[in-house]
Parts: sequence; C-alpha cells; structure tokens
Amino acid sequence: MSKPVILGTGSCLPERVLANTDLEKMVDTSDEWIASRTGIRERRIAGNNQKTSMIAAEAGRQAMKMAGLSVFDLDVIMVATISSEMTMPSCACLVQKELGAVNAYAFDLNAACSGFLYSLDLADKFVRADPTKKILVIGAETLSSRTNWQDRNTCVLFGDGAGACVVGAADNEQNGILCSKLFSDGSLWELLSMNAAPSMNPYLDNGGLEGPVDFSRLGSQTESEGSCIHMVGKDVFKYAVRAMEDAIDTVLTESHISLHDLKLLIPHQANIRILNNLAERLDIDREKIYINVQKYGNTSAASIPIALDEANREGRLQQGDLLLMCAFGGGFTWGAMVMSWQ
Ligand code: UT7
Repeated sequence: MSKPVILGTGSCLPERVLANTDLEKMVDTSDEWIASRTGIRERRIAGNNQKTSMIAAEAGRQAMKMAGLSVFDLDVIMVATISSEMTMPSCACLVQKELGAVNAYAFDLNAACSGFLYSLDLADKFVRADPTKKILVIGAETLSSRTNWQDRNTCVLFGDGAGACVVGAADNEQNGILCSKLFSDGSLWELLSMNAAPSMNPYLDNGGLEGPVDFSRLGSQTESEGSCIHMVGKDVFKYAVRAMEDAIDTVLTESHISLHDLKLLIPHQANIRILNNLAERLDIDREKIYINVQKYGNTSAASIPIALDEANREGRLQQGDLLLMCAFGGGFTWGAMVMSWQ
C-alpha cells in the first residue's frame, strides 16, 4: 500500500527585515549577545497588510503550485498557529476563503512550535484512511504581534513567516511518511506561555462566583503582562534538547533506521546552541542539519515548513532520501517524524 507523501512545499516570508543592530536601538542588547547566544542575525516582521492568514495562504498557494494541484482538489486545510489575527474564525477558514478552496474543510491546530509536526501527523492519518484525499498543511505565525518589544529576554528571539506542504498518497510503495511520534507534558506549561487577551474572567478570578466583584481589575492586565510570550529560557533550553533527542531515538528505533542513513535533519529553529547541543548528543554530522535560524529567528509553527521548503527548492532532497524532522515548543509539546522523500 502506498504511504502519504509531501507532494509540494511553499513558504512566505515578509520582506521587512529587523536586524540585531535595529534591536540595539530598541532594548539594552547587542548584535554580539544575540548572535553568540542564539545564532540569530535577523528576522522578518510582517507589515499591516500581512496578516497571519495572508502569508499562510501565499505559502499554501506555492505548495499547491509545486504539487501541480488546483485549489478545488483540496479536501482539508490545517493551519498550525498560535498567532492568528482572529480567535474566530480560524486562520484556516480565512486561508480557505483567500484561496477559494471551496471543496475543503478547514481548521487550526495549536501545538506551539510543534504545531506543524502535529498537523502533518494528522494529515498522514487522513491520507492513510482515504488515499484520494489531498491535505494542505500550513505553519504560519506573526509572533511580532505577540511580542513584548520592551522585554529583551524574548523580543530578540522571534520572527514572522509561513511554510506549507501538500500531503497526498504516493505513486509508489517505497516512499512516504515512515514513522511519527508526538508527545506533550502540560505540567510544564508555565515555562513557556502566552495568554489569550484576557484569558481569565477577571470577575471570577477575584473570589469566584461567591466572592465580591472587583470591577477595577477589568483592563488592568497590560499588553506586556497579558498576551505576550513569556519564557523561562534556560529551563526551556534544557528540556528542548533532551526531548528532541528522545523523540528522534524513538522514531529511528521504531522505523529501524540508523541515524547515519539520514540525508537531512530539519529541526525546529529556536536557537543555534540547542541545535549544536543536539548534534553533539546525537553524534550526527552537522552538515546534515538544516539551519536557517540566522535569517528568520524562531518562527514557531512556521519554522520547520519554511526550512523544508528552502531545503526542497535548494535540491537537498532527492527521491528515496531519508528526512527526519523534530520539534519542541510550548505546552510542552514535542515530536519527531521520519520519511522517505518521494
Ligand atoms: O521555540 C521553542 C522554545 N524556545 C526555545 O527553545 C528557547 C530556549 N532558550 C534559549 O534559547 C536561551 O535560554 C535564551 C537565548 C533565551 C537565553 O540565553 P541564556 O544563555 O539562557 O541566557 P540567560 O537567560 O541565562 O541570560 C544571561 C544574561 C542575563 O543577565 P545576568 O542576569 O546574567 O546579568 C540576562 O538578563 O543575559 C541577559 N540577557 C540579555 N543580554 C543582552 C537576556 N537577554 C538579553 C539580550 N541582550 N537580549
């Protein structure tokens, strides 16, 4: 039986570049600190006319074009995001409207930086259940809208962008998604979080239904405290390395593939030191790890599909090549997937 494969990839990066030297003028930081601690040199920032759904739709359009499919062929659109411009409707429904994909149903998936792998895992299951289905999987973020630009601990890390792929059944039996493993641990949520705005009913928060109601609490949550990314960087760093290493070991063991047989490893792009650490622990040739964090920073759910599209367009993936992708993000969520490129 043929397996699900990636039929096409696409990406969309806003043109506006925010360099480390620009950040030096905004917060107490330096190009040297950011580059040496994170590997990031610059990131992209979406303009007012580049909402999450718009860059998501453009990435999707490109993936469809590469796959040689029409938007009418799409059965499902999934968008992995934590920074859609609206809570309702979903970003995926806005993408559907933008593309005119009238035969698809659409929904979002929130698994933070692991969102693309979670969505791809779901697409894999859809296509295994019905090989005629064509699924558009997008990871898209405009985290610049959810960043506290006065907090140097976080504002230097994130960027905007979108990446996409189309999943369908392979035309042969050898290639396709071989194994996927996903994990989460909600008990560690406080180490990496972002409130909705506001996420708690301030009346109930003040003593419950029985207690006195303090109206002064309404609106007291500032933008910076309330709805921006909060992270305990050092702890996240440690968990990220160990969790991705474990997930990689698990998928390789279950699929009986040796690390040395991999052609390419595309990890979530959060920090070059995390990737160097991972490379050391795995004892994998660094040339096999795709890295673009220096150009885009951490684009959360978009980072893997952007890197995948770049690697694909650079010709780094040929038929039969073994590709491994791994992610780690808020939740905590993490996972890994291995596939044989079609
Ligand atoms: O997407 C998935 C989740 N995210 C991640 O995977 C991120 C994981 N964590 C990290 O990448 C790193 O922990 C960071 C890059 C966030 C921070 O690097 P670090 O080596 O862990 O630095 P730190 O937080 O221990 O801070 C060291 C010092 C502190 O100063 P003191 O207390 O030693 O005086 C910070 O205040 O660096 C200071 N600092 C900065 N200095 C200049 C923090 N941010 C900055 C900055 N510029 N932007």
